[in-house]
Amino acid sequence: MTPILQVRNLTKRYGPGCARCLESTGARRETNQCPRCRSILACREVAFELYPGEVLGIVGESGSGKSTVVRLLHFDFEPTTGEFFLSLNGNGAPKIDPGQNLFGLSAFHRRQVRNARMGIVYQNARMGLRMKVSAGGNIAERLLMAGWRHVGRMRERASGLLEQTEVPVERMDELPRNFSGGMQQRVQIAKALSTHPAVLLLDEVTTGLDVSVQARVLDLIRGLQQDLGVATIVVSHDLGVIRLLTSRTIVMRHGCIVEEGLSDQILEDPQHPYTQLLVNSTL
Ligand SMILES: Nc1ncnc2c1ncn2[C@@H]1O[C@H](COP(=O)(O)OP(=O)(O)O)[C@@H](O)[C@H]1O
Ligand SMILES: [Mg+2]
Ligand SMILES: [Zn+2]
Repeated sequence: MTPILQVRNLTKRYGPGCARCLESTGARRETNQCPRCRSILACREVAFELYPGEVLGIVGESGSGKSTVVRLLHFDFEPTTGEFFLSLNGNGAPKIDPGQNLFGLSAFHRRQVRNARMGIVYQNARMGLRMKVSAGGNIAERLLMAGWRHVGRMRERASGLLEQTEVPVERMDELPRNFSGGMQQRVQIAKALSTHPAVLLLDEVTTGLDVSVQARVLDLIRGLQQDLGVATIVVSHDLGVIRLLTSRTIVMRHGCIVEEGLSDQILEDPQHPYTQLLVNSTL
């Protein structure tokens, strides 16, 4: 099967960098900070694929580089190095040569790719929603960016999505800042799905929610996965979330991938000492 998404050699450095950055950081060195120039290697030489319909987990402790990876794929900021390929077949996809490194596109083209083909849900709803724009308006804004023009149709689509994500449709014109945390995440999910993304990025979607709310949002995500089959990357520090949602998992530490495999195998029989520690500490 051809991957829908491919990442190669993805590195994000904060700081000036020096000749020793890569060799003196990473999982084996137990740090993501270069001792010589003090740069942070938030992620380094990360490579993986995502297949159609697959749900891939990225797990690791806080600071291991998980958010950096998904936010780079969403073009929230620029990588230091890296290649990113998407197979862009399908409706409304901008024309892009296969084999084109998306990080090499102009900002305009990257926005087009993002609007037509990607959806993201942030841990912090403030990053994904405008709190002073109604829930429906947040969705409509995204539809507008993807080229929708007919107001009535946008409203109809927004209310359909809110229903699908179990947000009471009569709250469509309310401001998300008046919503509970769980409800805000549902609106973010609705917004992310609004343009039928080829790839969905979920960054710690349920972290910080009450346990019972967490369970319901996770249920919703599972149901949507079954109904829509969107290729998804689930970022979480929580192995329970990884177990529930993903089939394959990448384990990150200090910006590196230290282990990768089927989620069941990783949870039952972790190979890397760090993964063993993660798994054992949550038993
Ligand atoms: N803007 C930034 N400037 C400097 N360091 C950053 C910045 N953003 C993230 N980092 C650092 O990069 C590392 C990875 O962060 P992040 O990707 O947020 O990890 P995770 O999502 O796994 O918790 C952390 O050490 C973090 O402090
Ligand atoms: Mg994070
Ligand atoms: Zn350095």
